[in-house]
Amino acid sequence: QDRKLWGGRFAEATADLVEQYNASVPFDQRLAEQDIRGSLAHVAMLGQVGILAADEVAQISEGLQAILTDIRAGHFEWRLDREDVHMNVEAALRDRIGPVAGKLHTARSRNDQVAVDFRLFVKEATLQLADLTRQLRSVMVQEAQRHLTSDQGQPVILPGYTHLQVAQPILLSHWFLAYAEMLKRDEGRFRDAAARMDESPLGSAALAGTPWPIDRHATAAALGFARPTANSLDGVGSRDFALEFLSACSILMAHLSRLSEETVLYSTFEFGFLTLPDSHTTGSSIMPQKKNPDVSELARGKSGRVFGNLMGLLTVVKGTPLAYNKDLQEDKEGVFDSFDTCSITLRLYAEMLPKSTWNADVTRAAAARGYSTATDLADHLARSGVPFREAHEVVGGLVGLASRSGRQLWELTDNEMRQAHPLLSAEVAGQLTVEASVAGRGSFGGTAPERVQAAVQAALSELDG
Ligand code: ARG
Repeated sequence: QDRKLWGGRFAEATADLVEQYNASVPFDQRLAEQDIRGSLAHVAMLGQVGILAADEVAQISEGLQAILTDIRAGHFEWRLDREDVHMNVEAALRDRIGPVAGKLHTARSRNDQVAVDFRLFVKEATLQLADLTRQLRSVMVQEAQRHLTSDQGQPVILPGYTHLQVAQPILLSHWFLAYAEMLKRDEGRFRDAAARMDESPLGSAALAGTPWPIDRHATAAALGFARPTANSLDGVGSRDFALEFLSACSILMAHLSRLSEETVLYSTFEFGFLTLPDSHTTGSSIMPQKKNPDVSELARGKSGRVFGNLMGLLTVVKGTPLAYNKDLQEDKEGVFDSFDTCSITLRLYAEMLPKSTWNADVTRAAAARGYSTATDLADHLARSGVPFREAHEVVGGLVGLASRSGRQLWELTDNEMRQAHPLLSAEVAGQLTVEASVAGRGSFGGTAPERVQAAVQAALSELDG
């Protein structure tokens, strides 16, 4: 254990348990690149404004670069007694270049140092997830396009559900585009958050700013930020940029969890809609027949961790007085975890969906069952002037009659139809196909094939541009 960088006033060594409890280096070493970039920008600025001499800047910068090279190569010794990434790097710099290393921390505190490191990390993570989300959205749109023509040249038809009860037939492509819309908003949330967090807290110092003539605009620009944060207390004490990131991650995972639930359900033997690729499913150690949708189950399950990370950080932040408190050290692991979880889940779905097979004959047959075209029959009556509520009642009676006798609507007799309403006949019932049903739903945003085709084209050209 070497002397603490903050050890001046302390007469006693830090207790072992405190050392363990306090140290963040086991996880914040992940910020090493950002930490060194932040220090390089800081020291260059100290030179520009004349706080450090040119040779001091050069020595410190070269030392930092050498340390970065060691870290990248895995040759760096991370020490728990050096507490965190910042003091590990600074102590290693002193080991390497001697006492001049101590000048790096002029006009800076670990409070603004960690704030800038973490912002850099979260901003990059946010933009990476925006890109990955866009890639999955693009896969969804391509899948929508692919399923506009099944083997028979017709669009693949899927039962649409409400309450998980068959509701109305839809195009499978329409289903894909629904997820594409969610992912489009998810991408937007990441990009909005990235724009809002694009401010550098470096130079806020401990909390109050600094008497040194620093140039915060220069360091902000050097680090690729749009501007410096406007208030030093806020700069070191706020973590809402991480909360926004975790929130966007959570909403994204909620969407992927719904997708996962549908994937699990539709790939069951009972549904039989979807066949997942062998490469993205797993087997059972006892039941030889099993092919399990683990990826989807894990995505559904991992969404819980991602929500937990958001709730965890909200709870950490809510009771902290301004400005920095050590509580804030707890901001990192959840962010790393949500970032990793979202990245891999997005990548997995982008791989798995194009390799999955939709069984068009099964989905079409399922879409025809459950009186899915009853609304079309009611609309037929209403188009002839029957008030929709009355039409609903008439068709409800026919559904009851058919279900009591185990038949479909189109299996009712001409007599039964006419008795229910004079405007009905067996011929009308015969027109109640799933194809006619989807073709009829041409309202903007509806599932009619020409609407869906146009929506696919619009999405493709937007993704191109
Ligand atoms: N490891 C600390 C963190 O992650 C760095 C900031 C420490 N600042 C302090 N005043 N102790 O938050």
